[in-house]
Amino acid sequence: MAYLRLRQVVKSYDGRSNAVDDVSLDVERGEFVTLLGPSGSGKTTTLLMIAGFETPTSGVIELDGHDLVRSKPYERNIGMVFQNYALFPHMTAAKNVVFPLKMRRFPKSDIEKRARHMLELVGLRRFADRYPRELSGGQQQRVALARGLVFNPDVLLLDEPLGALDKNLREQMQVEIKRIHREIGITMIYVTHDQTEAMTMSDRIAVFCNGKIEQVGSPLDVYNRPANRFVGEFIGDSNFLAGRVDPSRPGWVELAAIGPVRVAQQATLPPGDVDLMIRPERLRLRPPGATDGADNAIDLVVDDIINYGDSILVIGKARGLPLRARIVGGDPEVLRPGVTLPLAWAVVDAYVLARR
Ligand SMILES: Nc1ncnc2c1ncn2[C@@H]1O[C@H](COP(=O)(O)OP(=O)(O)O)[C@@H](O)[C@H]1O
Ligand SMILES: [Mg+2]
Repeated sequence: MAYLRLRQVVKSYDGRSNAVDDVSLDVERGEFVTLLGPSGSGKTTTLLMIAGFETPTSGVIELDGHDLVRSKPYERNIGMVFQNYALFPHMTAAKNVVFPLKMRRFPKSDIEKRARHMLELVGLRRFADRYPRELSGGQQQRVALARGLVFNPDVLLLDEPLGALDKNLREQMQVEIKRIHREIGITMIYVTHDQTEAMTMSDRIAVFCNGKIEQVGSPLDVYNRPANRFVGEFIGDSNFLAGRVDPSRPGWVELAAIGPVRVAQQATLPPGDVDLMIRPERLRLRPPGATDGADNAIDLVVDDIINYGDSILVIGKARGLPLRARIVGGDPEVLRPGVTLPLAWAVVDAYVLARR
């Protein structure tokens, strides 16, 4: 059985709408699971219920086989790190880290040693005596991380912990948090609305929308095989081409205005209206000559280009339908508005989604 179990958890703040709406999730011991979704989708509420700061309206939350719902936050052995750090401003970094140990009546002899070790782990040994106002945002978040981990919690919950940091610092802290996760092997549940962060850090991602989980899977799963169009659009950039599946033509989808294209999902295709998802980076320039059975061809009339330096995003139309392609090694002199680009994608690189 899973280490942390959420079963049909519902939370309504106002008795009318559900902020969290029938969420079930299993987290294994030592796993790094990210709750990813837009603002207001119920991520924080879910964390607060696991931590014990909010009570579910209904449903079950269990840790290691024990019911959590009726226990107080301090009775749960769960650490939490907030976006705004929530450090005690009148306490030094060391005192902040010591605080949860005192609350939990750790033996005096142990307290000092643990706090020192934690500050060391987050790379702040030299800053132990500084007050939060004397620390940068990144350093303050390290203190919060140390404070969340110092009492050896069963689970660490992190709610958009890097949201207030600039890009470089954020990437540095992502690596740090993953290192700490590896070193102490703790179960982490991480909340973010940043899909790149979720992709790079997680063992598994739970995609939230309107209080519900749309899909749970590895980063590659949710990226390559999204459960629906919401997931496909929220994670990464994507093209959706409308089409139809004809059960009498297995291996093909008839795209509106474009015509028949080969697809790889033969057995599992739902008959009827579908969307064919093609990631812009899976489209590439088509060499002269016919495509073989492993490729599909499409022509893109360029409207605009965005040069990212390492690649060029080409925005245009195929048979009048919007299409975006990310071309690596393309020549910006050639990729000009009005030009028609011969493109191809591998049959296995497109994914068919049933239309809801
Ligand atoms: N304390 C609260 N009282 C009433 N409504 C709340 C409260 N906290 C959150 N909500 C509402 O619950 C929904 C989910 O919010 P939240 O869990 O904070 O989402 P997220 O963390 O994904 O942005 C939102 O509609 C939000 O307005
Ligand atoms: Mg939130």
